[in-house]
Amino acid sequence: MNLEQTDKQYVLNTYARNYVNFTKGINATLFDDKDNKYIDFTSGIGVVSVGHGNKEVADVICDQVNSITHTSNLYAIEPQAKLAKKIVELSGYDMACFFANSGAEANEGAIKIARKYGETKFDSKRYKIVTLGHSFHGRTITTVKASGQKKMHSDNFSPYPDGFSYKHKLDDIYAQIDDETVAVMIELIQGEGGVQPFPKEDIQKLARFLKEKGLLLIVDEVQTGGFRTGEFLASNLYDIEPDIITLAKGIGGGVPIGVVMTKYKDIFSPGDHGSTFGGNFLVTSAAHKVCEILEKHKDTGLLDETIIYFETKLKKLYEENKHLFYKEVGLGLMRGLRVNDEETLTKIVNNAFDEGLLLLKAGKITLRFLPPLTISKDEIDEGFDKLARAIKIITI
Ligand SMILES: Cc1ncc(COP(=O)(O)O)c(C=O)c1O
Repeated sequence: MNLEQTDKQYVLNTYARNYVNFTKGINATLFDDKDNKYIDFTSGIGVVSVGHGNKEVADVICDQVNSITHTSNLYAIEPQAKLAKKIVELSGYDMACFFANSGAEANEGAIKIARKYGETKFDSKRYKIVTLGHSFHGRTITTVKASGQKKMHSDNFSPYPDGFSYKHKLDDIYAQIDDETVAVMIELIQGEGGVQPFPKEDIQKLARFLKEKGLLLIVDEVQTGGFRTGEFLASNLYDIEPDIITLAKGIGGGVPIGVVMTKYKDIFSPGDHGSTFGGNFLVTSAAHKVCEILEKHKDTGLLDETIIYFETKLKKLYEENKHLFYKEVGLGLMRGLRVNDEETLTKIVNNAFDEGLLLLKAGKITLRFLPPLTISKDEIDEGFDKLARAIKIITI
C-alpha cells in the first residue's frame, strides 16, 4: 500500500488532502520523497514560525525528552512556569496563563473564563458572547458555534451551546449587547475569514466601550500571536489591553500548544479547568525556545527587515497582476491577495504547487501567505519567482 492508499483506508476523511510526501524541511524550504524542492509560504498554516528543522528547537526538544517529557499538572512544571513568564513579559500585559493543546482549546478556556466572570461579577448572570461574521475560533462544538461562519453551524453536529451571536460589522456589535452579554470575542486580523484586518480606531473604540461597561474583550490571537504581525501580539500593534487573549499555532513552532492568558488572575480555582497534556515539559520547553528565537529576531531588526522585503515583493506582484487581483490585504507576515474569482484562486494555488511553492486559500477568494517568520531573502525571492511563473501560465 502506498501512502495515499494507507491514509485513505485508515485515516478519517476530514481534509481535502494533497498526497505529496514531505520528508525534510530546512527553514522555509521543504523536500518530498522524490527530492522535489518546495518553498513554503504557509508554515503549516502559521505554525512553523521559526522554520522547518530548526536546530535550536530540535536540540531543546531532544534534551528535554532525554530528561522528562511529562509528569502531570498536579506537580509544578518548571518550563511551564518559565514559558508563562516569558509570554506575559513579551506581551507587556499584567496577566497569567493557562496551557492547553490547540487554538480551539485555548478559546474554550477563554469562554470558560468569560462565563465564570459573567456568573460571579454581576448581580444577574451574564453569559452571552458576541463574535464577528467570518470569524473562525475552532472546531470543537463550542468554538464552532463561536465562529461566525454560517457554514460551520451544520445540523450534522447540532445542538450547539447557547449564547453566541454574530455581527458582520464592528459598529453593529454595540446594539447586540444586552443585559446577558458578558464578552465580545474577535480576531484583530481575521485569518480564515480572508486575512482581514480591522481599523485600529474602531477596535480601540470597542475596547473603550467594553471597559466602561465592565464587559470583556477576548482577542483570539491564535493566528496573529507570536510576532506574526511584526509585534508579539496584534493587540500590541492595536494598542489595546484585552481582558483575555488566546494563542496557539506559531507560539510552539510545531509542537501542539494553546495558551489562554487573562488579567483576571484569580478567576479560576483548582478543579475549574485543566488538561492532561497542556503545558507539559516537552511543549513548554520547545515553545520557550521558539519565543526566545523570535524575540531575538525582532530585537535585531531582522523580523522587520523580512516583513518589508516580503511586502515589497508582494506589492510588486500585485501591481503587475491587477487583472487577477483586486486588493492586497494583511499585516506583517500574514498577507493576502484578493483574487477576482474562486476558480482563478484554485488555479494559482495548484499551479504554484506544481512550480514548487506552497500557498494557502482563505475565505473564498483570498490567496494567503503565512511564511515562517525566519524565511530568508533567497527563499522569498525563489518563492515569488515561482509564483510569477504560476501566474503567467494562467495569463497566457
Ligand atoms: C483565529 C483562530 N482561532 C482558532 C483556531 C483554531 O486553532 P486549532 O486548529 O489549533 O484548534 C484557528 C485555526 O486556524 C484560528 O486561525
